[in-house]
Amino acid sequence: MIRVDLKHAQVDAEGIDVSAAHKRLRDISVENNNVWVELPNTMTDVYFDKVTKTAKEIREKFDVLFVCGVGGSFAAPFAVQQFLDSQFPIEYLFSFDPMPIEKALKKWKGKRICVNLISKSGTTLETYSTLETIKPFVGRVIHTKGEKWPDKDFTIHDGVGGRYSAREVMYLPLAVAGVDIKAMHEGAQVAYKDLKSQYDNEAYKYAIARYKLHKKKTVELFASFYDGLGGFGMWWQQLFGESEGKEGKGLMPVPLTYSRDLHSMGQYVQQGNQIFFETILNIPNKSKLNTAAFMGTVKAHANAGVPVIIINIERLDAYGFGYLFYFFEIACAMSALLLGVNPFDQPGVEFYKKEMRAVLDA
Ligand code: PA5
Repeated sequence: MIRVDLKHAQVDAEGIDVSAAHKRLRDISVENNNVWVELPNTMTDVYFDKVTKTAKEIREKFDVLFVCGVGGSFAAPFAVQQFLDSQFPIEYLFSFDPMPIEKALKKWKGKRICVNLISKSGTTLETYSTLETIKPFVGRVIHTKGEKWPDKDFTIHDGVGGRYSAREVMYLPLAVAGVDIKAMHEGAQVAYKDLKSQYDNEAYKYAIARYKLHKKKTVELFASFYDGLGGFGMWWQQLFGESEGKEGKGLMPVPLTYSRDLHSMGQYVQQGNQIFFETILNIPNKSKLNTAAFMGTVKAHANAGVPVIIINIERLDAYGFGYLFYFFEIACAMSALLLGVNPFDQPGVEFYKKEMRAVLDA
């Protein structure tokens, strides 16, 4: 269960009619690109059995798993891995930078390497150029890919867009890491039930607050008091940035890690150009010092005039992450729909991909 606290937000969640956006979000079809909304209910035991069996094989037959993917095709498992312990070595490769690839190959020289290649389109250059480089050193490639590709082991379904594909891309690498993926899925199922209605919907409450604040601010800072949530901040940034940043609209999403960044950005937040509001993810049972830092920060920033949204979460284990991913996906889709942009396309990203291919083909 998540509770959104708007006490210091300078806005409430009243007076915005979400019914048209809610209807659009719940009108499930491939054409509407919202098949992901139903994934907590539609992923089958057969699927989970296959994931569990494949993960067991990987752990028995290999020494390491390389996950190759970018954007929505890597951010979710990477986020969880940064926070929860892994019982098996996993390397994430997601860019053209040859250094991490060389480093990983050097580190695992002579070892048995398995790859999980994740790409919905099956054409993304970052992912496929990495595969070409590492192929000679790899024992097996497991493909998580879009429906249209015949050579796949796991499917990213039509109507499940890249950044809304967390559940379809993360369960295999996380099962290899030893994360309880059934508990994670249970978290998503409970979130599904909690966030189904147009009314008393905490994800919509966050979306409405953002919508109201975007009229006054251009940046949303997203902070937590855990070093291990840096990857989650990146996932959040990818989700909101790619979903909302269109047609000259959208809040610029900036993730921060406190208390580290209180000693850099904290100065800006306190006394800089106030083009931002702040959203803080609050987890109970922090250490005494971390709790004091959280309370002191909220007080100091609110006193400086910064609107602060607090998102209170009950727990941050596998179950908690399952809940959290779904919460933010629903909030993000609603937020973009309220803004009047399509949350499920990414014309700007496609343009970059096209221009890069043109340079390579010239
Ligand atoms: O969210 C998105 O749609 C993008 O970030 C994609 O996930 C990213 O571009 C990778 O695409 P693909 O999965 O097709 O390789």
